[in-house]
Amino acid sequence: MTPPPGVFDLPLPDLPLEAGARVTSHVARGWWWGPEQDLPWLRSRAHILPEEKVRENTLRVVRRTKEELQALAETPRPNGPARPDNSVPTVLLVHALTGDMRAGGAGGWWEPVIGPGKVFDPERVRLLCFNNLGSCYGSSGPADEGFPRRVDDSRFSPPEPLAKGDLRLNEHQLPATITPWDQARAILQALDALGIERVSLVTGGSLGGMILLCLAVLDPERFERMVPIAAAAEASTWVVGWNHVARQALLLDPEFPEAPARGLELARQLAMLTYRAEPGLDSRHGKNPGWSSRALYPMQSYLEYQGQKLRARFDAQSYLALLGAMDHHDLSRAPQGEPDGTWGISRIRASTLAVGIDNDQLFYPEHMKKLAERLRAQGQHAEYAEISSIHGHDGFLIEWGRLDALLRRALALPPGGGGGSRAQAVEPLTEVNLLLLGRGTVGGNLLEQLRSQQSVLAREHGAQLRVTGIVDTRHLLFDTRGVPLNQWRERLDQTQRSGSGPGDVLDVLERLRRLPTPVLVDCTAADGMGFLYAEAFKRGIHVVTANKKPLALPWESREQLFSTARANQRAWHYETTVGASLPVIRTLADLVRTGDRVRLIEGCLSGTLGFLCDQLTQGLPLSKAVRLARERGYTEPHPRDDLLGLDVARKALILARELGLVVSQEDVEVEPFVPKQLLAEDDVERFLTSLEAWDKAFASRIEGLRAERRVLRYLARVEPPAKEGQLPVLKVGPIAVPQEHPAARLRGSEAFVAFTTERHTEWPLLVQGAGAGGAVTAAGVLADVLEVARASTGRALARSA
Ligand SMILES: NC(=O)c1ccc[n+]([C@@H]2O[C@H](COP(=O)([O-])OP(=O)(O)OC[C@H]3O[C@@H](n4cnc5c(N)ncnc54)[C@H](OP(=O)(O)O)[C@@H]3O)[C@@H](O)[C@H]2O)c1
Repeated sequence: MTPPPGVFDLPLPDLPLEAGARVTSHVARGWWWGPEQDLPWLRSRAHILPEEKVRENTLRVVRRTKEELQALAETPRPNGPARPDNSVPTVLLVHALTGDMRAGGAGGWWEPVIGPGKVFDPERVRLLCFNNLGSCYGSSGPADEGFPRRVDDSRFSPPEPLAKGDLRLNEHQLPATITPWDQARAILQALDALGIERVSLVTGGSLGGMILLCLAVLDPERFERMVPIAAAAEASTWVVGWNHVARQALLLDPEFPEAPARGLELARQLAMLTYRAEPGLDSRHGKNPGWSSRALYPMQSYLEYQGQKLRARFDAQSYLALLGAMDHHDLSRAPQGEPDGTWGISRIRASTLAVGIDNDQLFYPEHMKKLAERLRAQGQHAEYAEISSIHGHDGFLIEWGRLDALLRRALALPPGGGGGSRAQAVEPLTEVNLLLLGRGTVGGNLLEQLRSQQSVLAREHGAQLRVTGIVDTRHLLFDTRGVPLNQWRERLDQTQRSGSGPGDVLDVLERLRRLPTPVLVDCTAADGMGFLYAEAFKRGIHVVTANKKPLALPWESREQLFSTARANQRAWHYETTVGASLPVIRTLADLVRTGDRVRLIEGCLSGTLGFLCDQLTQGLPLSKAVRLARERGYTEPHPRDDLLGLDVARKALILARELGLVVSQEDVEVEPFVPKQLLAEDDVERFLTSLEAWDKAFASRIEGLRAERRVLRYLARVEPPAKEGQLPVLKVGPIAVPQEHPAARLRGSEAFVAFTTERHTEWPLLVQGAGAGGAVTAAGVLADVLEVARASTGRALARSA
């Protein structure tokens, strides 16, 4: 049983700051989560806060008097081990500007990636995070009585006397200058006080990333791996510029320095605009549908809310100190007290995974990319990876699936620092969480394949595929720990859906979104799934589907779905919708991507109709062939649905749209397999009997074709217009093909697609094989899921190679 996380106070030696002031009665407030065996050590080194006090102080400014600080330093601690168990690796987290030390547990800033069974698992590693020096959540900072002021920055000469009314330089009203070197030194003091000599991995984003870079430079031997995210080796002029304006907003508040309120709100509002990128803001705070000259735009209320929230929870002097720290970040400047000469990145020995965010407008991803390049050039192990996020800089607090994958990768980096000679870490798995809709032929086979293949998938693909939910028309099962795959049927059958609408599935999507690499897998043939896909994309969930219907929606609705997926940077895979596990969509996409021009697509796309054609050619009467197909489970419950040709028409439509043709269902000319008048019969048995009247006609047609060396096939044709102004040809129907035609060779329920293109003219490019069946279709769905897993890790890592 893992104990709950704890918060502790740690009295530390005085800390001389870079600019010359000195922090006395120095204290760091820390957060710990780890194995039970850590507790005697932690109790002997630090004062663990009672739970009520932690709750009471959560995101509340801590202001301590000198006496309180003194008393803390003098409180005795029980005897116990001076060092923690070395066999448990230590992971150090460094928080960003206004965060606190509570990285995990309920409300922690990285809660979704920390906890039992998650990437940072307190049963396997010791997690530590300290409130940064200068902050106001329990470590020494300007909110404490006696914290030094700017006038104490003794290393630099005092400023010119103030002009009357000029607040900017009134040094008595400003906190002492703090730099990330100072903040890193405070953390090193805390690690020393706890007896932690080695840190297996240190990570953090934004200001946290800057501080951890300072740690890796100041004490290169101590840190084996580091993951700076959305940070830089020095504060750019851009960052300094934004901080300057934010600071002015605060200083100009009429209540400064006693209790600036609006100024702090404005500073935060301005900062929020640099933390978030336009696409994310648009998607979450788009304009009101109605217009009014008085109502706030959603974006305005969002900023007001953010401003007020920070004012209620943060200290203005701390905010100034921390903005200043960011400004003064520069790894190439030797920190005060250290010799000049070789300083900066060249001292780093940690193996590095530097992470940028593609839409980051505060710390452009190039900074992280360059850092990795520099480290590689000096012989370090360094990789670069990018988080793709519509939200920009704050992506490191939002994109959980990607973060999970990257942190797993980081844990597996070979150790640098002083641990270079140790054995390589074990490659952790990429966790993918599936919500499966439909447990029929395809869904059922998929669950069976996942059960039997789990260890192979982990070994060969590095993917841990967990089924967290299964839904059919009457049952809904969801378990964040994963559904045991040898009991899924019993577990699912014990549940009941709460209604017939999509409401309960939406609730489950809300829970799924919080898990690493969430994927919605649709193995139904249900209508209306497009709505659920859109809701999934908006929640950052990928979609894999075997269901053709959402792809055959009217053109605008389908486009809307694609654009929602793109806007949220989610994957949508549907390879099985045309040829079960045959790589039809992928082949077509590759032809188009490489600039080939498709002139004709021909295919036998229905396993059921292929089987019927084959049986008829072998001499079986029509009515018997349909009965046989039905007995073997190849047809829909009413075989009419196959014989209508609508399913093939949908597949032709999907292929045509993949070519970029703006076409709809009505544009596909459909000739059913049997005469239309037969298809009106609703009763299955009467329908099958009615086919007997056509046995003769079909037999003589087949005979006639045989004499002409031709065979009957149910063929789909997609022919893009050869010239501008012409219309595309989309046709599905029974057709007689010569014996040399590739379709003539098909046997049983085999399917084929032939692409005639500018490059493949003489011999069309053929894709052929089993075109239906639960097992092959499920395998195709699984391949699509693995593609999502690969893209969420492999692509970025490959880019860094
Ligand atoms: N079978 C193949 O060879 C093949 C090949 C390529 C593509 N596909 C496509 O794959 C999909 C599944 O085919 P299948 O043969 O597995 O069908 P199936 O055996 O009829 O199974 C369909 C499943 O979907 C469930 N379902 C229906 N509506 C639902 C809803 N609104 N919400 C949640 N679950 C719902 C059903 O639940 P109940 O059990 O409660 O009825 C059933 O479990 C279809 O779109 C099909 O066109 C199939």
